[in-house]
Amino acid sequence: MAGAVPPNQGYTTTSRWLHWLTALVVISTIPVGAVMTTDGLSRELQNALYIYHKNIGILILLLVAARLVVRATTTAAPLPASLPRWQRSAAAVSHVMLYILLIVMAVSGYVRVVAGGFPIETLNAIGMPFLVPRSDALAETAQWVHSTARFVLIAFILLHVGAALQHGLIRKDGVFSRMWPLKRPQ
Ligand code: HEM
Repeated sequence: MAGAVPPNQGYTTTSRWLHWLTALVVISTIPVGAVMTTDGLSRELQNALYIYHKNIGILILLLVAARLVVRATTTAAPLPASLPRWQRSAAAVSHVMLYILLIVMAVSGYVRVVAGGFPIETLNAIGMPFLVPRSDALAETAQWVHSTARFVLIAFILLHVGAALQHGLIRKDGVFSRMWPLKRPQ
């Protein structure tokens, strides 16, 4: 197809699986975060949701770190030359913003919990020391950052999904399929 991604410019299998695993856990973490803070849940359900959210949030930080290592050690697949310049710039900015926002969400969540004096079960189990001091003021600031940044994250996720669907369903230029995990690299 004219203007499509040329051969040998797809993502590696590792990049594609890391992408979809991150997408899956982020998409589950956001609604769980919103629901667990609502009134009227049973104590058991609320505890289970908090445990899921905190520990999956830490997993997200590890996945983002792994993706940054892969990104730094491999060449990012270029977008088709037929794509308008502004769309290529928008894609680059939104990808950087998604990385930044996921880090901000995970770090602010960590600080909110540890400064607030609460456990993070997996990190406690492996004996990881607390990286921030116990402080109500710090916990409150981190909570504000966490709660505010989620709106920006959701906006960028919607933009990202919209652009991906446009490539996959309308332009059909190979940009969506080169990230699909079940496709062999070209
Ligand atoms: C990228 C990862 C993360 C995303 C997308 C995310 C998303 C969210 C969202 C949408 C909420 C609801 C906010 C509200 O209702 O005000 C929330 C709340 C919360 N999150 Fe996260 N979160 C992430 C990582 C973490 C991590 C790593 C921790 C802790 C280890 C954490 C701990 C919490 C806590 C304790 C709350 C309740 C805040 C409160 O009202 O005290 N989150 N999160």
